[in-house]
Amino acid sequence: MTAPARAFGGFGLGLRTDHYEAIQETRPKLDWLEILTENYLVPGGPPLAHLERIRANYPVVMHGVSLSIGSTDPLDLDYLEQVRALARRIEPALISDHLCWTGSAGLNMHDLLPVPHTEEAVAHIAERVRRVQEFLGRRIALENVSSYVDYSFSAVPEWEFLAAVAEAADCDILLDVNNIYVSAFNHEFDALDYLAAVPPKCVRQFHLAGHQNNGSHIIDTHDHDVIDPVWALFAEAVRRFGPVPAMIERDANIPPLPELLREVDRMRAVAAQALASRAA
Ligand SMILES: [Fe+2]
Repeated sequence: MTAPARAFGGFGLGLRTDHYEAIQETRPKLDWLEILTENYLVPGGPPLAHLERIRANYPVVMHGVSLSIGSTDPLDLDYLEQVRALARRIEPALISDHLCWTGSAGLNMHDLLPVPHTEEAVAHIAERVRRVQEFLGRRIALENVSSYVDYSFSAVPEWEFLAAVAEAADCDILLDVNNIYVSAFNHEFDALDYLAAVPPKCVRQFHLAGHQNNGSHIIDTHDHDVIDPVWALFAEAVRRFGPVPAMIERDANIPPLPELLREVDRMRAVAAQALASRAA
């Protein structure tokens, strides 16, 4: 018995192994949880058993890191078959991955690498997204990644590229507000220009996270609390895109669950205030 997929909305948290027990024992006030798809692709075993118990009480979304939609390698159909099987098992409200490539010629670099912002890349990625969506029998959302390098031959800014891919592929967008902040700092663009160019009808989910500022550049480490400028950018995003489901990602230096729940509470409060000012 699983919570219905249509219940997706409100405020969530990335499910991490550190919190399996606490979430099952305390049933915290969370509207949904996001899982890292790759952690549950092996049928059976403790992670999947935890997930199925948690799924009985919470809607879940699946977030992957292995699609490599921007690569020129063939799509990995074995991987997609595993994703489809997991989706049939846990009925996620959303399936997402990243607008990036992770390797080439069979080599996985385990990093979410940016793609060049060209018409050729839009066509290439859109065709692959359509095939993935056909294979899975549902839409997917692509997330904007944080980046540290750019391509001299990129023809348009990232925000125009993201919008063009979503349009051409007929897919959704997972907008990571922290990634926009990180890339805006690293590439010296205005984060508000980014928000203004993303089509509201495509945005299905927000990510928020902390990062590490090294002065000359920011690394997207997900090991700190969300900083005030990212909360401010999140408020702008809520004013523009409305009550999109939002969550906190924490992948390192993971604190006890109550600490992250306080961040989720802050996310609720910031969103409520932004929505109130939007209505006014
Ligand atoms: Fe993210």
